Amino acid sequence: MKKWIFLSIAAVAVGCAASKQVAITEADVTLAKTEFSGVTLAELQTGQVLYTEHCQSCHALKDPASEGVRGWKHHVPEMVEMANKDKAAGLDKKEEQAILRYLITMGPLKKS
Ligand code: HEC
Repeated sequence: MKKWIFLSIAAVAVGCAASKQVAITEADVTLAKTEFSGVTLAELQTGQVLYTEHCQSCHALKDPASEGVRGWKHHVPEMVEMANKDKAAGLDKKEEQAILRYLITMGPLKKS
């Protein structure tokens, strides 16, 4: 019984976290292409998943709109390095790029 209650609380928590995620659309990909040639919907979605998985183990997820293009370009490489060092995230350069492109597209590019 106790286990069952724990599981349902966990399910509600996961559901809330997931519902905060904004779905990436083809319009977002078109926007992303103004900045990154060759970017795909799959890459942006991968970036979103990796961001959610690896970027809230030390602090809360930050809103993509909370930084500008230069801010993300500055923070993401150093944060990926921290995630790899302290949390054994194992993120490679391609994954770092996907996270960066996701954040810039859904934040500063959408705002401008
Ligand atoms: C190992 C722990 C750790 C992980 C994992 C981590 N961060 Fe951080 N992050 C920190 C700490 C500590 C700070 C504050 C000190 C600093 O700026 O270096 C910070 C600060 C930041 C800031 C600056 C925010 C501000 O208030 O100025 C951003 C943006 C950020 N993190 C994004 C990310 C992203 C994106 C990822 C995933 C790639 C990530 N973090 C993963 C520890 C982490």
